[in-house]
Amino acid sequence: MIADEPTTALDVTIQAQILELLKELQQEEGMSILFITHDMGVVAEIADRTVVMYGGQAVETDATSRIFAAPSHPYTRALLAAVPRLGSMDGRPRPMRFPIVDKVTGTSDEPIETPDTVSTAERPLLEVSGLTTRFPIRSGLFGKVSGCVHAVENVSFTLRAGETLALVGESGCGKSTTGRSILRLLEPDSGTVLVDGENVLSMNGRALRDFRKQMQIVFQDPFASLNPRMSVGTAIAAPLLANGLATAAQARDKVADLLVRVGLTADMAARFPHEFSGGQRQRICIARALALGPKLIVADEAVSALDVSVKAQVVNLMLDLQASMGLAYLFISHDIAVVERMSHRVAVMYLGEIVEIGPRAAVFGDPQHPYTKKLMAAVPVPDPSRRGVRREASNDEIRSPVRAPDYQPPLRQYREVSPGHVVQVWGEEWSA
Ligand SMILES: Nc1ncnc2c1ncn2[C@@H]1O[C@H](COP(=O)(O)OP(=O)(O)OP(=O)(O)O)[C@@H](O)[C@H]1O
Ligand SMILES: [Mg+2]
Repeated sequence: MIADEPTTALDVTIQAQILELLKELQQEEGMSILFITHDMGVVAEIADRTVVMYGGQAVETDATSRIFAAPSHPYTRALLAAVPRLGSMDGRPRPMRFPIVDKVTGTSDEPIETPDTVSTAERPLLEVSGLTTRFPIRSGLFGKVSGCVHAVENVSFTLRAGETLALVGESGCGKSTTGRSILRLLEPDSGTVLVDGENVLSMNGRALRDFRKQMQIVFQDPFASLNPRMSVGTAIAAPLLANGLATAAQARDKVADLLVRVGLTADMAARFPHEFSGGQRQRICIARALALGPKLIVADEAVSALDVSVKAQVVNLMLDLQASMGLAYLFISHDIAVVERMSHRVAVMYLGEIVEIGPRAAVFGDPQHPYTKKLMAAVPVPDPSRRGVRREASNDEIRSPVRAPDYQPPLRQYREVSPGHVVQVWGEEWSA
């Protein structure tokens, strides 16, 4: 079997299940697997032998345990140094840049803790309360509503200027729907979303259009979100021109400025998306998101598809932009190790609800809810000698968020375990 990045886009629990399945097939059928991936955590988990490739060449081939314990090629060392490891942030309350590793020498710079960017203003930038978004399921000839997907159910949280709140949880738990509801790319059923004290959900027409400039979204797939027939300069300038915020000449200057800001060069404006690498394309998407001077950026799996070293660079860029522009990020990700580096606070979602929220150090250092514990136990440990030790794949399917039309969701109680660290009180479904 040739498996080409089969687990890259999956959240940790599903990823663990897929790896378990492959191992079973291998044991039972004696199957050989050529496993292609950029995720060194997955390599540690599944591979007996590893070939490290760089610039189209195999630079190192060895038993996986030796590759991890004593990498000999500088590029292998660089690759391993860039792997985010859960727990590497113990004792550090603030986000930290990833070390940048020199691919030729294999040495890395000292990672720097970011400056304190979180605003202490009395009012948070974003206040979400009771946000609920459901999708009706229609069936039969007349499209009668036979049920509802409870994608987001009574979700409340705040986000300060200059702060990053990560939303984590299994595939389908409602992370994207939460982000899209806040930006009104979807219409929520109820709740309030205040930005600087103004309710986004009650805005219409012009007011909403004006307000949208303050909130932007960056997606996982930068290629799909850029028009292949439009030069990147035109793409970045489009929101400026469409909103009548700049003349053609001003837009050209602004584009040049934005490209430099995200680590590219001004002359790249004339090029087209296919002429860039994945990491560069994501920088272009970030530049476009910054064009209107937003205060809030929803990053929906924005770095998930990038390989480790490019991922580190884009995360560092986002941290730098936060420091220089005071941006607030709602950082949606299934990559717990990146979340640990990047976020000030974390919210854990399960079946449309937040089950635990708090400072990153508290939620990861002292997880309370059984689901948070399960999620963290499923994070791959990039260490082949500890294969399967921490990672316990459970085969229970995610329960479905589909309910009958007359379903009344239970009233939830929350308890504060330490300042700002709040946990949903759970019932017996978790006690098994
Ligand atoms: N337009 C839609 N119509 C019907 N159901 C939808 C729609 N969009 C999302 N859903 C459902 O809502 C639930 C939440 O989906 P959502 O995309 O928010 O999850 P997610 O946490 O972002 O997952 P992933 O990690 O896979 O991106 C899922 O059960 C999904 O199937
Ligand atoms: Mg999603």
